[in-house]
Amino acid sequence: MQYLIGIDIGTSGTKTVLFTQQGKPVTSHSAEYPLYQPQNGYAEQEPLDWWNAVVETLKAVMAKSGVKKQNIAGIGLSGQMHGLVMLDAKGDVLRRSIIWCDQRTSAECSEITRKVGRERLVEITANPALTGFTASKILWVRNHEPEIYERCRHILLPKDYIRYRLTGEFATEVSDASGMQLLDVPARQWSGEVLSKLEVDPALLGQVYESPEITGAVTANAAELTGLAEGTPVVGGAGDNAAAAVGTGVVRDGRAFTTIGSSGVVYAHTSAISIDKPGRVHTFCCAVPGQWHVMGVTQGAGLSLKWFRDTFCLAEKQTAEDMGVDPYTLLDREAAQSPIGANGLLYLPYIMGERTPHLDADARGVFFGLSAIHRKRDLLRAVMEGVTFSLRDCLGVLREMDVEVGSMAACGGGGSSAFWRQMLADVFACPVTTIDSKEGPALGVALLAGVGTGLYNSVPEACDAVIGFAETCAPAEANTAQYLKYYEVYRNLYPALKDSFSQLRKV
Ligand code: XUL
Repeated sequence: MQYLIGIDIGTSGTKTVLFTQQGKPVTSHSAEYPLYQPQNGYAEQEPLDWWNAVVETLKAVMAKSGVKKQNIAGIGLSGQMHGLVMLDAKGDVLRRSIIWCDQRTSAECSEITRKVGRERLVEITANPALTGFTASKILWVRNHEPEIYERCRHILLPKDYIRYRLTGEFATEVSDASGMQLLDVPARQWSGEVLSKLEVDPALLGQVYESPEITGAVTANAAELTGLAEGTPVVGGAGDNAAAAVGTGVVRDGRAFTTIGSSGVVYAHTSAISIDKPGRVHTFCCAVPGQWHVMGVTQGAGLSLKWFRDTFCLAEKQTAEDMGVDPYTLLDREAAQSPIGANGLLYLPYIMGERTPHLDADARGVFFGLSAIHRKRDLLRAVMEGVTFSLRDCLGVLREMDVEVGSMAACGGGGSSAFWRQMLADVFACPVTTIDSKEGPALGVALLAGVGTGLYNSVPEACDAVIGFAETCAPAEANTAQYLKYYEVYRNLYPALKDSFSQLRKV
């Protein structure tokens, strides 16, 4: 019997799962690490924290599973997208990674638009200049920390830094590279034009592979640290969303999923490239070679609930610990005691700025309609509804673009809550399914490793063999009608507040 490993380097932690070659989880282990926010709108993490978490979780799954290291056929890497990792000539980390939700780079986005031209940038990278993407972060370091930029010899994404530590190779793959704003997304290769207009040396970037391709093998040193066998193949893998797509079987036209992790995403597969000219949603290469996906992103989805939990729900956290249950289970129960519309309370989830549909780094979170009658349960429900409305905005753009959304799966932490799934189905006015594995991105990249090492012939074949649907949550018509009334008020809030957000930032 052969086994596959999927490693997902997320924002709140890393999860490593060892699967049978049929995609059944054998053991899994997670390790958390901090997010640093030195200023409003800044978000950084320490690449060494990711590496230590990968070593810890690999060691744990290898020891717990009892699987012989020689029987691991391959490893796939998934990770938070867009983060900037800079290494010096010796391969040492030069500064903390500026990660996907950091919003400091508005000036650099204007610089990119000026140098490349908005229209040409969208034609090549399929997106307008965005604060979340890597290119503007590179320019920020060049503009603000020139001495660090001078010493930089390698630029990597978070999971590709882990690849470097495991295999010694500087490489990436098309799905994650799409989020750097340096890739020619239709052509699936680095864009010489964008790199030269931005004066970024192509030698700083790793080789680009398709997601299932083998990119290197575990070195003797990494093998000793992790308990893996030297020479174990590591495939390209995918950015966390493209990885979750494989892990939920969203690899054919008509298939879509919504994930509520730290960020929230509505993602649809497309075999033909389709670009939203205003750039409200991203078009990226997906993990199926030669195909793409379109996705809308809510910056502060699970992040909003986590912020609320950590700031206001210390008692619930303690009770959950005493009961041995997940604190989010208790928060779900509390939110369910408030009615649809949270007794007239709305929440805008823009705590880290917003991408779809507003593309506004200055936007911030809002509770609207707060009254003395409101209790914590109302605030909790409002947070969940606000995130769901923001995901409804994403779905609206996909529908406007005529991207086919025939079926909608739910995944991520939020997707595992029956309460939140019902809310999604009601607000989207469409059935929301779950699949029979909860491992999303880790399963997705383990399957990519299965394809790359020849256990499966193609990504869709691997998904067909492994992924089954578990249950479907149907929308309740009466709920949909009620949510719609609140959604209309929600949609009017951002335009009314847009100028005030920017004014507030300047104070
Ligand atoms: C996608 C995005 C997030 C991160 C973190 O564009 O920024 O989904 O990948 O999960």
